[in-house]
Amino acid sequence: EDAQKGGFEHYMLKEIFEQPLAIHNSLLGNFDKIMSSDFLSSQDFSSVKLIACGTSYNASLVGKYAIEYLAGIPVTVELASECRYSSETREDPLVILVTQSGETADTLAAARLAKKRGHRTLAVTNVVGSTITREVDNVLYTQAGPEIGVAATKTYVTQLMAMYMLALKLGKSRTLRRDEIHRYTHGLKSMPRTVSNVLAKSDEISEAVGMLTNAQSAFFLGRHINYPTMLEGALKLKEISYIHAEGYAAGELKHGPLALLDSNTPTVAACVWDMSYEKMLSAISEVAARDSPVLGIGIEGDRDLEAIVDRIISIPEVEGILSPIPLTVAVQLIAYHTARKRGCPIDRPKNLAKSVTVD
Ligand code: G6P
Repeated sequence: EDAQKGGFEHYMLKEIFEQPLAIHNSLLGNFDKIMSSDFLSSQDFSSVKLIACGTSYNASLVGKYAIEYLAGIPVTVELASECRYSSETREDPLVILVTQSGETADTLAAARLAKKRGHRTLAVTNVVGSTITREVDNVLYTQAGPEIGVAATKTYVTQLMAMYMLALKLGKSRTLRRDEIHRYTHGLKSMPRTVSNVLAKSDEISEAVGMLTNAQSAFFLGRHINYPTMLEGALKLKEISYIHAEGYAAGELKHGPLALLDSNTPTVAACVWDMSYEKMLSAISEVAARDSPVLGIGIEGDRDLEAIVDRIISIPEVEGILSPIPLTVAVQLIAYHTARKRGCPIDRPKNLAKSVTVD
């Protein structure tokens, strides 16, 4: 087993470090094919519905922001386990099922329901030949390679890549100019390097998580497209370190969480140079004023952020809409190092399974 871990202490860490390659493979395997084929080029749907569970649900939420921003198509996101209670409406969306394993029972049931209702279906999955691939009209493989750790890492980041590729494809025939497509494509193609830069901070992150290791509860705050990034950060921390963590849209702080903040409740906050920047800075100041220790994740060289947080992890500057990718790698490392310091069984967290085949 040690040999399979390639010198890493856990599969999860190995898989976190495989992400530059996974991103490269997913682009290589999909990008030109998607952009040049007539796949999804017909305009016979006016909305998109993303359906998923767990980590794949968080990727779908990122997908909602990306598709609406880049393609101007309305997107709804549903938990697969809730779909069975949904009513049929006049809407005829493109239904995208996001599932790394392709075997999650609730997601399979949602795919069957969508088909029954006559919707066009697309699966985004990592596993070739998995059950979902036989239930849908089209399949997009994330090409992350096998993932052993129960907590999804490289499959999540490649799901994000799939979301961006779909958003660009849908935007190409609708809203995006040529130069914009070029700019975002360049941003995506630079991601393996951007992510490697975050991975190089693993030791620094390991030191910074001191403020989390003895906490019983923590908040993960973000806004806009990094609200779901922080939901994913909180989920990763819960799954492997057993610390109660909540991801929150920073604008909702005053509607509840502020009452829980104190010096024993740390906050991890994402704050990048996008349309939510000023509002994030002010949310972080509010949190700090309640004595919550703050670990900020921001863009390299951001002195304003540095001045109001206790610790800062820097990521390279990227287009705001693409920032979930490097930010996700930072929150994965935060969760990993916290769990390692707490002596948790990282690759096999208690009570969790890699794929949930019962509903
Ligand atoms: C389980 C796994 C999660 C995963 C979820 C959905 O809970 O532990 O990591 O996100 O199932 O799995 P799927 O294969 O559908 O993405």
